[in-house]
Amino acid sequence: MDQKILDICVKVSREAGQLILDMAKNPRQIEKKSAFDLVTDADKAASDLITRRLLELMPESDVMSEEADFIKRSSSNLLWIVDPIDGTTNYARGIPHAAVSIAGYDSEKKELLVGCVFNPFTNECFVAGKNMGAFLNNQPIGVSQVSKLENAIAASGYFNHEKLTYETSNLPETWEFLKRCLGLRRNGAASLDLCWVAMGRFDIYWEQGLKAWDMAAGALILEEADGQVSNYRGEKLDIFEGSLLASNKLLHAESTQLLNRK
Ligand code: 2AM
Ligand code: CA
Repeated sequence: MDQKILDICVKVSREAGQLILDMAKNPRQIEKKSAFDLVTDADKAASDLITRRLLELMPESDVMSEEADFIKRSSSNLLWIVDPIDGTTNYARGIPHAAVSIAGYDSEKKELLVGCVFNPFTNECFVAGKNMGAFLNNQPIGVSQVSKLENAIAASGYFNHEKLTYETSNLPETWEFLKRCLGLRRNGAASLDLCWVAMGRFDIYWEQGLKAWDMAAGALILEEADGQVSNYRGEKLDIFEGSLLASNKLLHAESTQLLNRK
């Protein structure tokens, strides 16, 4: 892992975090991308800033952002996977739980190299580099030691779309965790849910219908904090596949069983 890539990732995440924090002080323009998907002018401004700065600092790279069309510009394998605001619905309603998420990804080896998730509302900056550990505001972090579901806090999220039915929703899975866990939480920002498992606030997180930019940085941060990420079947995570199970490792096998019970 190249320290320069990590430094750029953190620097640009912090710059964008400051922008969305400043923009949150005034009312924002809110549009709907689809019936259940919001975007604000701050998402677009942050996306523009991040793309411009990443390419200024690392011209030989490409940027995939939630709020921009993907154009391959370089011959490099370094792909930045960017969510300019993860937790847009929170952000649009003034709920201070949203983050800038940037990951550096080797598109040839299909491997996450670096990740930063920055919540400017709490000034919590989560950072990881491959094989170098995970950090919150420069202090090393690690997952919880909770090994029983009855002591676990599990988190999830509820992606909605026009064709959603009870069976294809996340409600059957939720029931399996609800009846066994100490608590369930739904905070609305996948990247932060992953970081909260990484630092031990949560023990389990699962969600379907995610995009690569929702999970890329957080998945590396959790792995580097000695947690585990996978698909619902417990197999190697494909960040482009959509379904994600994350845990403190100790609860992973049991969680995969619950996700496959319904
Ligand atoms: P967002 O705020 O960047 O849209 C909430 O459970 C999580 O799901 C958030 O990380 C949110 O990211 C993501 N999310 C919400 N709507 C989505 C959609 N239509 N497609 C993919 N991810 C979505
Ligand atoms: Ca977003």
